[in-house]
Amino acid sequence: MSFSSYFTHKSGGDRIFSVEAPKIKFGRGSLQEVGDDAKALGMKRVVVFTDPRVGQMEHVSKVVESLKSQGLDAVVYDQVAVEPTDVSFKQGAEFALDGKFDGYVSVGGGSVMDTCKAANLYSCYPADFLDYVNAPIGKAIPVPGELKPHIACPTTFGTASECTGIAIFDLLEMEAKTGIVSPRIRANLGVLDPSVLSSLPPLVRAANGFDVFSHACESITARPYTHRPAPESSQKRPLNQGANPYSDMACLEAIKLVGEHIVQAVNEPIEENYDALMYAGMLAGIGFGNAGCHLPHGMSYAVAGLVKDYAPEGWPTDHPMVPHGISVIVNSPAVFRKTGPACAERHWQAAAAMGADLTDTKVEDGGDILADQILGMMRETDIPNGLSGVGYSMDDLDALTDRSYAQKRLIDNGPMPISRDELKDLFRNSMTLW
Ligand SMILES: NC(=O)c1ccc[n+]([C@@H]2O[C@H](COP(=O)([O-])OP(=O)(O)OC[C@H]3O[C@@H](n4cnc5c(N)ncnc54)[C@H](O)[C@@H]3O)[C@@H](O)[C@H]2O)c1
Ligand SMILES: [Fe+2]
Repeated sequence: MSFSSYFTHKSGGDRIFSVEAPKIKFGRGSLQEVGDDAKALGMKRVVVFTDPRVGQMEHVSKVVESLKSQGLDAVVYDQVAVEPTDVSFKQGAEFALDGKFDGYVSVGGGSVMDTCKAANLYSCYPADFLDYVNAPIGKAIPVPGELKPHIACPTTFGTASECTGIAIFDLLEMEAKTGIVSPRIRANLGVLDPSVLSSLPPLVRAANGFDVFSHACESITARPYTHRPAPESSQKRPLNQGANPYSDMACLEAIKLVGEHIVQAVNEPIEENYDALMYAGMLAGIGFGNAGCHLPHGMSYAVAGLVKDYAPEGWPTDHPMVPHGISVIVNSPAVFRKTGPACAERHWQAAAAMGADLTDTKVEDGGDILADQILGMMRETDIPNGLSGVGYSMDDLDALTDRSYAQKRLIDNGPMPISRDELKDLFRNSMTLW
């Protein structure tokens, strides 16, 4: 079998990629089936995780009714923090531990699904908080065994947390985001009902759309799995295994769907946009869940962690935040201009899928073409103008660089090595985009 020459084996590199496939249900009305699904997974006493805003919406009441209609106990925990922190993760875990639940359902965005994963983990296998957190910040101790069953019901479409074994949080004392990564924390079932997206505020839709774009573009342009050093044993093969034929397939389709729908979905949405975007988010999740993201996400964790006073419209205003999709996409144009030469054709393909006009363009300019296409769509959807648009200045370059240089797992997954000085240049070039 022959693949793209991008996957030509390099001496010392891996020869194997694995496929982690989440179990998913997709379609309007699927939330009403959650009770049946929970029963089939053996749940009896269920905790439903959500955040204070989504907790007031019919998305949660539909799920609770469905659980009760199957004779299951359902207790709602609606105190999830949007853009969660180590503190809010621990609060969720305490609630879970005290409640002695045998099943978990999360109804909300990435903040809710990630908090639910962490609560399930720490209540099943209590430990010091940093034990399961990614190295070098935490100890990255493997999750000891199976968790209790979890059904994840996204009410946003960007993070694809329902597909991944990842839970992200802001470690307050370090002012940086990091995460817990293990196939064992992945939900047993993701239930994607696109009707939930019609209540999303426009800028949240835009942020989610660009999160999907970046997941897919980063996975396609990630280091090929054949260039990542072969693991000592099969159990040590990382989830971030690098670009591979399976993730390519899912990501190209995701980029195409977002490219066709995101501008309309933000400015004058029609129902069809929501089905396409939710499906695209899931596909990109399958892609980056098998390949891994790289620099834009690695940089985003510093941008989110060091937030000053940015308080965007559409999110809770109780604390400043740079929401995830925005913190990612402000870095992406500078990154793709830099990484373009490492795999120009892949950048060019992504730009084509996104809808760029490629007449009279050269493949070797793929990085710039992709960056320009993203910039145009950011402007059409009112995304802030780079890091300066979310409150940063050139005085912050060192702090941003230091925080993100620690994200080794992500930086190493890029298509080329990046030094600390180059990373600083990427932040500098992301300060003002147009
Ligand atoms: N686990 C992963 O694989 C992964 C991947 C990417 C990002 N993340 C993390 O996910 C978090 C971001 O998640 P998100 O972008 O899904 O948003 P979110 O969960 O932070 O929610 C954003 C806002 O939208 C509101 N909201 C959610 N659904 C709504 C709906 N249907 N109608 C109206 N309002 C709604 C929420 O109440 C909140 O105010 C970040 O912490 C990020 O780091 C996780
Ligand atoms: Fe993301």
